[in-house]
Amino acid sequence: MCGITGYVGRKDCSTIVAQSLKNLEYRGYDSAGIALLDDTLRVHKQSGQIDDLLIPSAPDATCGIGHTRWSTHGAPTDENAHPHTDCTERISVVHNGIIDNYETFKRKLSDDHEFTSETDSEVIAHLIENALEKGADLRDAVEHVVGMLDGSFAIAVTAVGHDGIVAARQDSPLVIGHDEESSFLASDVTAFVEHTRTVTFLEDGDIAHLTGDDVTIWNGGDVVERDRQTVDWGADAAEKGGYEHYMRKEIHEQPHAVRQALSGRVDELAGSVDLDLSLSQEYCNSLDEIQIIACGTSYYAGLYAAELLEAHADVRVSVHIASEYEFRAGRDPWRTLVVAVTQSGETADTLRALRKAAGAGARTLAVTNTVGSTMAREADDTVYIRSGPEIGVAATKTFASQVMTLTLLTVYLGRQRNALSSNEASTILKELSAVPGAIQQVLDAESTVRHTAEAFADSEAFFFIGRRLGHPVALEGALKLKEISYDHAEGFSSGELKHGPLALVTEDTPVIAILTEGTNADETLHNVKEVESRGAPVIGVTSESDPNAVFDTALEVPSVGVMEPVVANVYLQLFAYHVANAKGRSIDKPRNLAKSVTVE
Ligand code: F6R
Repeated sequence: MCGITGYVGRKDCSTIVAQSLKNLEYRGYDSAGIALLDDTLRVHKQSGQIDDLLIPSAPDATCGIGHTRWSTHGAPTDENAHPHTDCTERISVVHNGIIDNYETFKRKLSDDHEFTSETDSEVIAHLIENALEKGADLRDAVEHVVGMLDGSFAIAVTAVGHDGIVAARQDSPLVIGHDEESSFLASDVTAFVEHTRTVTFLEDGDIAHLTGDDVTIWNGGDVVERDRQTVDWGADAAEKGGYEHYMRKEIHEQPHAVRQALSGRVDELAGSVDLDLSLSQEYCNSLDEIQIIACGTSYYAGLYAAELLEAHADVRVSVHIASEYEFRAGRDPWRTLVVAVTQSGETADTLRALRKAAGAGARTLAVTNTVGSTMAREADDTVYIRSGPEIGVAATKTFASQVMTLTLLTVYLGRQRNALSSNEASTILKELSAVPGAIQQVLDAESTVRHTAEAFADSEAFFFIGRRLGHPVALEGALKLKEISYDHAEGFSSGELKHGPLALVTEDTPVIAILTEGTNADETLHNVKEVESRGAPVIGVTSESDPNAVFDTALEVPSVGVMEPVVANVYLQLFAYHVANAKGRSIDKPRNLAKSVTVE
């Protein structure tokens, strides 16, 4: 989704802003722009790639803002790209989010102001123009205008004759970076982490004024202090490190990522887990229901966790697509724990669902990768999955880390609720600690997957089947393949095939079957026979050594108990990657998709 960046300081401003735009590319965009300020405002913006963006020459600039746009209001044209300027071309504005009441302002302003775009964002520049004309300074003007706007937004503004950048946040993330002589601004830390790891996350209602090393923040008219935090990863974590694509690098980072999810949280011998939660034993015991809210890949991690929670923590679990979520009548909010599963911590649908749950009085828990994200700050408790930055649009390592972390939560709740003995807990924890090694074994078999993927790359469609823990993995395997290869791929519960989807199966539709521990593999084998007898080639992703199981290709999963489907999923990630690579697709930035989906 759209990305904001900004810099104030004495270093090479245009290079810093241009590079930070490149660093934000992964969020997804269709146009980009930059405004540099010296004694005048120099703006360039256009649709298309950042590499093609003309960077204005402004060697004396000490302040600049930039933007990557993912179109919502208006097509991805040069005119609709940000920054937007006022009529005098002395004010420039970049904006993320949506201004709900922009049409009212546009109508009112149209007599005296010339609009050059179809966007909701441009009204902000013209409203600030009016406020400055009345004698306000830039900070006051921004505060005044922000007070008039409905919707969700993050904005950054520079203006000729005014020092630095003024930024405002309402429901859309902004983070400030600090070094000895400069300040950085961005939608996320990746934009500037090569310069500084010392950051301040803005809160809703904050107005910040960045002037070089000095940053002042107001909220509700008062100056407020916000904690500075240190990001625990550096620029190298967000680089490709010799891989052709971020996605492949991130698939290969999984052994490390899942180890991080476990680190310092597990006592295998005692069968206990410490997630630093504020849930008392009494609360855990009183729990009536867990509701998991999430989107996309995170939703599938939630489906996986639901099976484990019901089995090992003896609690009723419902999993909700966040955009469909309602806190329905008949539920006791005090005895309902709502768990938001979200890599970014910023997904608008999940955030809205989290707020509905909190509004209804339920206790909330965020399971996220992103320190300082909105959901991490709004939830009553947060557990970080500790994957490190994920730049490829397709989620890979974060899925594995989410499932690992949710399994830790399962063991924690199971123990608190006396649903799991310490021996049973130890067994699960041992299985978890074997996952990094098992994933490594799969990664070592990549060439087999590549050959299989290349052999089937031109198939008409791909079907993924699995039961129980294999079902969310089948759904995730299909999602991964469709989003990066653009092929038709669908995941089914194996038992559902004969109720309709079997009509689609032909010799040109490979079926990828998940047959591991926790997937009722024996039953899925019957379904494998059904598709084989219709001529479909079958790729078995399996830890079962059933002599009746004959596959066109067998991909072997090491034995790690309930985590085997997560390990099997690594094969599916590699399969998707190599099908897409064989077709020359834009793997890290698939068409129409964005990394962090901050609109509903
Ligand atoms: C798919 C993918 C998406 C995200 C979804 C939720 O590869 O990445 O389906 O999982 O947009 O995002 P988060 O986890 O950030 O809430």
